[in-house]
Amino acid sequence: MQKVSKGQLMKAAIKARNKAVAPYSKFKVGAALLTKRGEIITGANVESASYGLTCCAERVALFSALTSGKKDFVAIAVTAEMDGGAMPCGACRQLLFEYAPRAVVIVSDSRKGNQTKEFLVSDLLPGGFTFETSV
Ligand code: THU
Repeated sequence: MQKVSKGQLMKAAIKARNKAVAPYSKFKVGAALLTKRGEIITGANVESASYGLTCCAERVALFSALTSGKKDFVAIAVTAEMDGGAMPCGACRQLLFEYAPRAVVIVSDSRKGNQTKEFLVSDLLPGGFTFETSV
């Protein structure tokens, strides 16, 4: 996977998880996106007292990357303290489908970052909605 290994990408996600702002759920999630050029952009979940405004780690990373002009995402590592790792929620799957359609989603339990599972965005959201121009 380009110049960055899967292990390095997951390490970046585990580090990003430490910056999660999750005072309500206490469930910290870290994410790290990898571009074709080998750039890593990270994010962590940020919660609100108005719970529905909470933003997942995956979307924080994606919005940060997109608004920094990054594109061509080849992978996203996601990590949380959960057996087998936490899978992206439906909202994140939709955003990944639109802006990182070819990315490999790598998940891990942050306590065992070296044990990963992999999925394709296209398999996580079959028949996802998009305008032709939005990808
Ligand atoms: N969360 C993520 O950041 N990513 C996921 O894939 C699942 C859920 C966050 C949202 C919320 O802050 C907390 O985890 C509990 O749902």
